[in-house]
Amino acid sequence: MKKKIALITGGSGQDGSYLSSFLLKKKYKVIVADRRNSRSDNWRHKYLGIEDHLIYEDFDLSDFDSIFRLFKKYKFHEVYNLAAQSFVKSSFETPISTANVTALGALRILEVIRITQKNVKFYQASSSEMIGNSSSKIQNENAFLNPRSPYAISKVFSHNITKNYRDSYSMFACSGILFNHESPLRGEEFVTRKISKGLCEIKLKKREFLELGNLDSKRDWGFAGDYVEGMWKMLQQKKPDDYVLATNKSYSVRQFVNFCCKHLDINIQWRGKGKNEKAFNVKNKKVIIKINPKYYRPTEVDTLLGDFSKAKKILNWKPKVLIEDLSKMMVEEDLKRLKK
Ligand code: NAP
Ligand code: GDD
Repeated sequence: MKKKIALITGGSGQDGSYLSSFLLKKKYKVIVADRRNSRSDNWRHKYLGIEDHLIYEDFDLSDFDSIFRLFKKYKFHEVYNLAAQSFVKSSFETPISTANVTALGALRILEVIRITQKNVKFYQASSSEMIGNSSSKIQNENAFLNPRSPYAISKVFSHNITKNYRDSYSMFACSGILFNHESPLRGEEFVTRKISKGLCEIKLKKREFLELGNLDSKRDWGFAGDYVEGMWKMLQQKKPDDYVLATNKSYSVRQFVNFCCKHLDINIQWRGKGKNEKAFNVKNKKVIIKINPKYYRPTEVDTLLGDFSKAKKILNWKPKVLIEDLSKMMVEEDLKRLKK
């Protein structure tokens, strides 16, 4: 049987790497489209042992021609648009380029699909950040969108334009509204990986303390490896639609620190409030976590908690790895890497 061909934009990022691995196992031919710099050391693909099985193409989501050329070269069955300026904090410093890539990038791909390969199935990486500060305790596909950053506002645009192309041109276009998902392949700027790596360095006496921002913000944290299966399932349905993927459990940044410390056998105690809050190592009385306000955001999303019941019912999807095992997996992998 002829292999299906999938295009993954941002295929060298966290999700793109897990999705590449997943699709290779399903016998797809996988085209990873990225900026060349994004894959300079290919550490994620090496970790998953897939580097030699992928086809790499240079492309930039802000460059219409580079997208057009890809669609001239290959006839795709499925397109996963995962590329984005994905770091919320940076979007406050680079709002215009974030909008150009994260908002208009999706439109560029949709336009090329409309012109060249209208029957391709398209997945857009939408985000729980679009929901922002919600008045409902738990959020599903119908949540009111109240975005709180240039990143989230860009994702609202790409989410809405995906729906508009589905409705206007009968295109098979889906959005996955994914709540936070992490892994040992998470970028080090995101809080979970910053905590797991930082605490491992403290454990190995390579660092004294770690500086964080808002400890009170709560996120619904799942495992990226589970979520890429949900993306694929969305494109295997008869009809295109949007789905929330989440765990339906929410924890604060402080609680994530506590989980990692437990796995590392570091007994900590929190003292103080607000900017003066600190975590002490009970054993040697040293401060190991401090607050640095430079990590605060101009506007914050306080709490996210996802309702994935639609994905459970229609896609038969549910998360397998929850925060306790996720934090353990991340800490164990960071320890291994640091000891090398
Ligand atoms: P990631 O690791 O940051 O991956 C994003 C990839 O996009 C990176 O390889 C990045 O390259 C690339 N990229 C950035 N700008 C580009 C451009 N102009 N042209 C081509 N490629 C570009 O993010 P992720 O965690 O895998 O997330 C995948 C997607 O899901 C993103 O769209 C993200 O916004 C969305 N999302 C993620 C989560 C989550 O919790 N992980 C939740 C909801 C939605 P560089 O590294 O070189 O910048
Ligand atoms: N990055 C970071 N660094 N965040 C910190 C820190 C710190 O030192 N201290 C506290 N935080 C808080 C942030 O203020 C935020 O409330 C929370 O930790 C999570 O931050 P990130 O890990 O940077 O993720 P995010 O929730 O802003 O965005 C991620 O999830 C979105 C889905 O909801 C990204 O993956 C987005 O691309 C994704 O759309």
